[in-house]
Amino acid sequence: MKSFVVIHGPNLNLLGQRNPELYGHSTLEDINKSILEFAENHECKCDIFQFNSEVEIINAIQSNGACDGIVINPAAFTHTSVAIRDAIDAISAPVIEVHLSNVYQREAFRHVSYTAPVCVGQISGLGWRGYLLGLEYFIHQK
Ligand code: DQA
Repeated sequence: MKSFVVIHGPNLNLLGQRNPELYGHSTLEDINKSILEFAENHECKCDIFQFNSEVEIINAIQSNGACDGIVINPAAFTHTSVAIRDAIDAISAPVIEVHLSNVYQREAFRHVSYTAPVCVGQISGLGWRGYLLGLEYFIHQK
């Protein structure tokens, strides 16, 4: 059975109430339910984490470095964190970066991703379905 990990970064615990015009009305719990349902339907395992701190995100990347794929929304750390980028670069698991909003339609500082260059790809602007699309890519990858 393939084993995947989803990591949600800072402030994503506030989804549902946080800027719904940008991030939608689903709560993190709703999104995680959809992710687990999707994983179950595809007969794979998926562990899900949310951390507000950079350190915990790095630790989760390192300790899941040999899984079949990580889907990560590094949130604001996308635009600042060399340390998360280095953690992604250091592991063997492939990583896909997801953003709920289309970061390229927003402020210029969000157009820069420190993490995307060391990821397989980036999904931005497709809402919570971006997480499922990332997992789907890994599932169909040989
Ligand atoms: C985000 C986009 C980031 O720029 C922002 O800091 C977030 C959420 C998104 O999912 O659209 O917290 O990663």
